[in-house]
Amino acid sequence: MNNIKEYTTDNRVIHKSQGDDIVQKIGNVLGKKFWDYREKWDKVNKLELVTDFPLFLHLDLFQVCNYACPHCNIAHPLSLKKHYDGEISTNMDFDKYKKIVDEGSEYKCPSIEPQGVNEPLLIKDFHKYVKYAHDRNFIDIMINTNASALTAKRSQQLLDSGITRLRFSLDAATAETYKKVRVGSIPLPKVVKNIETFLNLKEKGNYKLPITGVSMCVMKANQHEKEMFEKFWINKVDMVTFQSFQPPNDSQDFTSFYPDNSKPQEKNSQNLKIEFKCPQPFQRVVIRNDNITACCNTFSNQLSLGKLKDGIYKAWNGALANELRRIHRCGKYYENPTCKVCVETTSN
Ligand SMILES: C[S@@+](CC[C@H](N)C(=O)[O-])C[C@H]1O[C@@H](n2cnc3c(N)ncnc32)[C@H](O)[C@@H]1O
Ligand code: SF4
Ligand code: SF4
Repeated sequence: MNNIKEYTTDNRVIHKSQGDDIVQKIGNVLGKKFWDYREKWDKVNKLELVTDFPLFLHLDLFQVCNYACPHCNIAHPLSLKKHYDGEISTNMDFDKYKKIVDEGSEYKCPSIEPQGVNEPLLIKDFHKYVKYAHDRNFIDIMINTNASALTAKRSQQLLDSGITRLRFSLDAATAETYKKVRVGSIPLPKVVKNIETFLNLKEKGNYKLPITGVSMCVMKANQHEKEMFEKFWINKVDMVTFQSFQPPNDSQDFTSFYPDNSKPQEKNSQNLKIEFKCPQPFQRVVIRNDNITACCNTFSNQLSLGKLKDGIYKAWNGALANELRRIHRCGKYYENPTCKVCVETTSN
């Protein structure tokens, strides 16, 4: 396994790829418009630029899945409800979606992830949602899926939708571990076959995009399969991703989920060694049903920037959004109680 590049933007997610990194791979296909957006994205990530509209819209518009992975909020209905202010949505309303995409398009927003705490392919015509964003000039459109519903037909629909990044979450290299960490799943060999069918269709059709990836949320239950996972996938997909486990809620004890050599940080703001500055309030909004929130943290409803009915522009330029950018710019994440909990309970 030579020539494997490893990179991260936040130390919580590590990507590995062969040859060019994934950004370069997409840039090779999309050219100038992509590089212009990435130039802004890099500045935003360094907290050097505040745009007048987010560069990234992350949509969490329904909370239903056919799996119940124990590390995911889906498997904890009470906390799930709490994180959505008691309002679980069971479908992705196309009119609501169009309104969001239309506002983004008006402000030339370049990137969107129309998937949240859910399984996107449970929406039968999901490719139409992707295509709608693509047709309104979104440049970078990405989703994660468990790939259980990825039939050949749906693979073809997705290949033709304009999607730029597609990541398959597996969390395991063996069927035995897969069953444990992906509760309620179909067997791993079937999922692998679905993914391989997608990859074959992509190759046969000479599609340059989407770039593909597989991911593992590293926990005690699967940590021993990291190497096997990487070895199996690194030549098949564009990137292999290892995510740090983050507790899905703050009302249960998830200590047993943390892999060895990693546990919830017990440091406080005085002895936190690395000054943490969160880029998310500079990058994105996360739309959770009717709530516009500041980040992808599971309890980000505590950081509500506004309501969808009042529009994204207003929320992005409102008091809390500006305050979050101010405290993170000066490394004082602990001035916001939600950020304090988030930073100090995440394993790095
Ligand atoms: C919530 S899932 C939604 C999309 C799809 N159902 C899937 O599994 O890919 C999105 C990603 O979040 C990851 N995830 C879920 N719970 C997590 C946790 N507690 N810590 C870190 N990542 C988590 C999943 O492994 C998956 O890669
Ligand atoms: S498949 Fe995805 S959304 Fe469903 S329970 Fe697992 S991590 Fe959560
Ligand atoms: S809670 Fe604060 S520190 Fe955590 S991801 Fe959200 S904005 Fe960033």
